[in-house]
Amino acid sequence: MSTVNAAFEDLNDLAQSATAQFANAHTPAELENAKAQFLGKAGRVTALMKGLAQFSADEKKTRGAAINQTKQAIEVALNARRQALQEAELERQLAAEALDVTLPGRQRGQGGLHPISLTWQRIEQIFGSMGFDVGDGPEIENDWYNFTALNNPPNHPARSMQDTFYVDMNDADGHPYCLRTHTSPMQIRYAVAHARRQAAELAHGQMSEIRVIVPGRTYRVDNDATHSPMFHQFEGLWLGENVSFKDLKVTYLSFCKAFFETDDLILRFRPSYFPFTEPSAEIDIQFQHGPLAGKWLEVSGSGQVHPQVVRNMGLDPERFIGFAFGSGIDRLAMLRYGVNDLRLFFEGDIRFLGQFR
Ligand code: PHE
Repeated sequence: MSTVNAAFEDLNDLAQSATAQFANAHTPAELENAKAQFLGKAGRVTALMKGLAQFSADEKKTRGAAINQTKQAIEVALNARRQALQEAELERQLAAEALDVTLPGRQRGQGGLHPISLTWQRIEQIFGSMGFDVGDGPEIENDWYNFTALNNPPNHPARSMQDTFYVDMNDADGHPYCLRTHTSPMQIRYAVAHARRQAAELAHGQMSEIRVIVPGRTYRVDNDATHSPMFHQFEGLWLGENVSFKDLKVTYLSFCKAFFETDDLILRFRPSYFPFTEPSAEIDIQFQHGPLAGKWLEVSGSGQVHPQVVRNMGLDPERFIGFAFGSGIDRLAMLRYGVNDLRLFFEGDIRFLGQFR
């Protein structure tokens, strides 16, 4: 056998053993090691190339060509193995990250309105449908609007009906600030603003009537299952030339029927006292059916607006009469949803709040 042939057989073996070693490599790192043994600086193919130096020019040519072929064959085997390993890795990843396209999609957490906000909106919507404007006013109120203008003079014992939080500050007129104990101060603020807006008409004795509700937050020193230091009320005020208690009754009854979505309820106007109304009444509601059937439940204070209060609005009590009421939004929400502890509304527990949509 000539040296050339022997060399060719060696080369054949070399290519085969490279292919076999590549096949034994199961990771890219193992494959790189195997490659180095053949094609690396100290590899067997490189050694053969270096060995060419000792041969004649002719032999160099034939041997060189044969070695190059072998080198190419080894590179082809190497690339094939590389690709096979990559594909296997991809398969493995795909299997590991298997995606079940039949699973329901992940939903974005869906928020909703707070039950008190829902109730608040419902009240605005129902009174809006009866022609009531919706007003809004400050929660930090001064003593004049919260008490004095409502015929509740300083040091009058009726002030203690509504124990409040005072703010250690006076307004420009020296009235102390407090957190409003009710939405009634908005009777005065709204009427004054209304009269100002209509000053021209008023000069001709033409002022349009006032028909408004004012929902909002109110504050008292109170805390138990049915009272919270912060709670919600809405004030109602209807003042005109010819507005009577009868209108209060019809208005409030219509509201309750719409709010509770039933005609099966009756109202009771129970005589009461408020400094800013005369006569005054508590409005009690009684459901004829359902879990609360037969019980009288207080939902609102009300009464005919006191002449002194009308005067404090800057209006003539001989011309403007009407009624006001102040109802608990939280109380109405509790009755509508069957919630028996007011505090649940304000604790922020999503398991509770998530039930109202
Ligand atoms: N402001 C009274 C309260 O909070 C309720 C009320 C409003 C009574 C309007 C009469 C008229 O208790």
